[in-house]
Amino acid sequence: MTDRELLLEAIRATEKAYAPYSRFRVGAALLARSGTVYTGANIENASYGATVCAERTALWQAVLCGEKEFDTLAVAAVQADGTPIAAPPCGICRQTLSEFSDGSLRIIIGTPDGLRTFTLRDLLPEAFGL
Ligand code: THU
Repeated sequence: MTDRELLLEAIRATEKAYAPYSRFRVGAALLARSGTVYTGANIENASYGATVCAERTALWQAVLCGEKEFDTLAVAAVQADGTPIAAPPCGICRQTLSEFSDGSLRIIIGTPDGLRTFTLRDLLPEAFGL
């Protein structure tokens, strides 16, 4: 699976978002080392703090299927007016991802027009761990 194909999966996943409050739809596609792709989307709540980001819904789907090792995460977002926008993972998602990565997880952020590639270590240096 190419980075662009994984990003297209993330873009498709934005359609699954439940985002009636922000109308900011986020999709994530997480490629496990097994080769399986798990997708996620943001799920908002009237109690705003109970909202869960797309990256974490994808990660939880994967972990619940027994996956612990991941190769690449792609993230895509669409603004309220329908415009695609590159959206890097928030701090909580970076920390959550670091539970399952030594920092080498590749993270792709993009729109249909292009993508950028990082590692989790780039986005979360000196990650906290126990
Ligand atoms: N959101 C994500 O899904 N991922 C992030 O990394 C940042 C923010 C969602 C949460 C909320 O539903 C909406 O984007 C606006 O913050």
